[in-house]
Order: sequence, then C-alpha cells, then structure tokens
Amino acid sequence: MQPVSINKPGVTQNVSEWAELTKARRAHFSEDPHYPRYHFVAPSGWLNDPNGLIQWNGHYHLFYQHNPHEAAWGPPHWGHAVSDDLIHWQDLPIALTPEMTPADDGGCWSGCAVDDQGTPTLIYTGVKSGETTTCLALGDDTLINWKKYEKNPVARAPRHPEHTHQAYRDPFVWREGENWYQVIGTSLQGRGQVFLHRSDDLKNWQYLHPLVPEGVRATLSDSGEIWECPNFFRLGDKHVLIVSLWQGGVLTYPVAFIGHRQGQHFYPEHMQRLDWGEQCFYAPLTLRNDQGRLLMWGWLQEQRSKEAQLKAGWSGVISLPRVLSLDSNGHLQMEFASEIQALRRERVQLKHPEAGAVVNTGPTLELQLTLERGRARRSGLKLGGLAKDGEEVRIYVDWEARQLVIDRGRSILNQKLQVQRGVFETFNDTVKLHAYLDHSVLEIIANKQLALSARLYSAWDNDLSLQLFSEGGNSKGAHFEAWRLAGIW
Ligand code: FRU
Repeated sequence: MQPVSINKPGVTQNVSEWAELTKARRAHFSEDPHYPRYHFVAPSGWLNDPNGLIQWNGHYHLFYQHNPHEAAWGPPHWGHAVSDDLIHWQDLPIALTPEMTPADDGGCWSGCAVDDQGTPTLIYTGVKSGETTTCLALGDDTLINWKKYEKNPVARAPRHPEHTHQAYRDPFVWREGENWYQVIGTSLQGRGQVFLHRSDDLKNWQYLHPLVPEGVRATLSDSGEIWECPNFFRLGDKHVLIVSLWQGGVLTYPVAFIGHRQGQHFYPEHMQRLDWGEQCFYAPLTLRNDQGRLLMWGWLQEQRSKEAQLKAGWSGVISLPRVLSLDSNGHLQMEFASEIQALRRERVQLKHPEAGAVVNTGPTLELQLTLERGRARRSGLKLGGLAKDGEEVRIYVDWEARQLVIDRGRSILNQKLQVQRGVFETFNDTVKLHAYLDHSVLEIIANKQLALSARLYSAWDNDLSLQLFSEGGNSKGAHFEAWRLAGIW
C-alpha cells in the first residue's frame, strides 16, 4: 500500500484532490468481501471512536479517531467526513494531526465540537509524554482549516487523591446559561467516573467535582474501571449519562445511566446497556440535530486478529445512526434513523416463510422480522445456511432465557466471542427485529429496547441465503420483510 500523504493543519486543504485520493483508496477495497458498502469506514488505515459530531450550516460533520498510515491503532489523527442526509459521506481532509506542539505530539485523542458564537471549535484530548490534557482547535466556516490554540492545553487533570490509571480523556462540552461545562472520562479508586469542569470562555477551566457523587458511584453495578467517552444531556424530564466501559485494558461496551440532576451533581436511577455486542459497538457519541432529534453513532470494533486487519489495510466501522428517545417508563429506546431507508432497492421475498423457505440474496440487506413465541423454544433466522458448509450464522430469540442471540458458528476466529447474547428487560412473547447486514457488519435492534451488534467474517458472496427456523415447536406468525440495499460510495 502507498502511504497516504498527510495534510498539515492550518494550511488550506485541497478538497477535490483529497476526494480523488480517497476515492482511489476506497476503490482498492471494492473486491474485499468483508468491506462494508453502506457503513462509514476510513478511506484506508485505522478508525476508532466517532468524534466532534456537529451540524454546521445544515451539514453533518463526522470526525473520527484515525491512523492513516496503517490499519492498526497509532498516534490518533482526526479524520473528517461530511453528509447532507446522514447516509452518504464525503471524505474531507484530515482535521487534526499530532504535532510537535506543547500538547499533542503523542496523539489527538477523542473529543467533541461546539459552536462558540460562530467559531467552530474542536475540544480534544492532547497526549504528550504520557500526560493527557484538554486542548482546543479553532476552525473557520468551512470546517476544513483548523488551527490549534497556541495556549494549549486548556485543562489538566485535577490533583485528586483517589485518581487511578491516570485516566483523563474524551471531553464532552455543552453550554448552559453563561457557562460552558465539560465532563471528561476518568477513574477514581479503580472505578469509572467523570470529572466536571466549568468555564466561561472554553480557554480557562475550573475543576468542580466528580459528576456522580462518590458515595452514589460506589453503589452502581457496572464493571467499568475507567469511564471513557462520556456524553451528558437532558432527555425529556431526565438526564442521561452515557459512558463506555474500559475494563482491564478491554474496550467492553457502553452503558447509559438515566437519572436526575441536582445542581451540578447527577444521580443515576437506572442503568441500561446500550448495545450487547461484546467488544463491538463502543465509544458512542450523540448529536442533537436542528429538528431536536437525538442521534447516536458508535465505533464497531473489528473482531479479528491484528494481522488480519493489517493485511486488509482497513479497520473499524462507524455504526448506522440510531435515534434515542425515552419510553413511558423513562427507559431509553432506540431506532435506526429512518433516512437509511433511502438505500432500499429490490425486495427480498420469502414465499412460504412458515415452511422455512430459503431465499438467495446478497450480503447488503435490511431485515424486518416479527417473531411470536408460539410453542417454540427458539426461533429466528439462519444466514448462509445452505450456500456453504459451516458458514451458518443464526440470529434467534431464546424464549426461555428471554435473550436475543447471534451464534456466528465458524464465521469468526475468536471463539470467545462466537455467541453474543442480549437480555430483554421486558418481554411479551413478541419480538420485532430490525437488522442491517453489510458484509462483515451486523447491527440489530429488537423491540426498540435491545441493540446487539456483531462482526461476521464469513466467505459469503452474492449467494447468501436466508431461512426462518424454529426449534422445540412452531413459532407463529413470523412477519418478514427485507430489502437489498445500495452502497454509498
Ligand atoms: C476509546 C478511546 C478513548 C481515547 C481514544 C484514543 O476507544 O480509548 O478513551 O480518547 O480511544 O484513540
């Protein structure tokens, strides 16, 4: 692979040259059976967390953790893309590059973007000599040219006796009245926490205290040693804190705490897992758009070896946008953004679904499937069942265990992750699945309450077949609708 030339921030960046370069890069992957066709992937190299989501002059800007040099994590840059419809993305030049500045030669880690009275501002974690701090980069109206603030860093970890893992990263900033507030991921006494800071100009920050009172934090049952990538916002009459759980060096999964605020403290009342895929959907970031819709994107981690990623030349996928809202019990519900439906092409018909009819289709699919328990112990869908021996993936509801299960059979090398399970909080013997399959990516939302994502590295080609099945008795009234989807590049 030819190394990609990296733009220097602060220099006007040539958008059309960049578009040509990235188009060529993407064309290179068009024969790769695992490369997604309608999910956002970096033009080449490595991608992790979504960063700096912002709607600017009506356009959606996505920044992301990026190593353009190879498909392995390396000193992170901020990659950049823009979309008008949440689905089709145009690559833009790299926004932030680690440099010999006072604050970030070790990398520009995750963060957010805000509109500071007309000045787009990126607020990111700078890494230097092992220290992580909060830094700023200021842009112009194009959001293409960025200049790092000359007095970076603007905030440092407070001296806190219980501070562990030296964790201090991923600022999330919002405006309230005359002030800006910043929550940032950390760890106290070996447990995840977020620090709260306040500023009136984004440049001078005062540390306040941990957002969740430590006594309350000690009662929570999550397993995060570090809370990474916090999001904190109001939703209806509740407040929501989303964090991603870092545990023993493993990036496990994100959770949402729904609760209430008293002054500058947050009191969680209920915890929900945001996605049940193990080491898959991670580091989500939200954006409230100009219609008031709360959108969320996450990073879909690879679930194959480092060698396989390097060989492929690309790694990491941004999830489809999910819309968050509260249900009548004050719990979070999720749906895929309806804009994705614009990608629908031919319908995929199952002639006699109840007789377990098989249909051949390709690996870019949207599926809507309603399952009713009937007498079945398990019911669901087999993917790839007949096409190739051993390439079967099963998606099913285990009615007794009240779980949604993805069993990837031999399509994944990491045996530990072969079976993924999501547990329903409430259950009434009907499950509506909404799923998107995009070559190696599978995202499912069930009954708007349970999301389960997984990566599949199957040798499927355009002969992928689908078959409904049930075990231990018939499952009634399976409603099935599916579409082949168009690619976005
Ligand atoms: C989450 C994370 C963040 C950090 C970034 C570095 O995946 O570990 O906490 O800022 O990745 O790339």
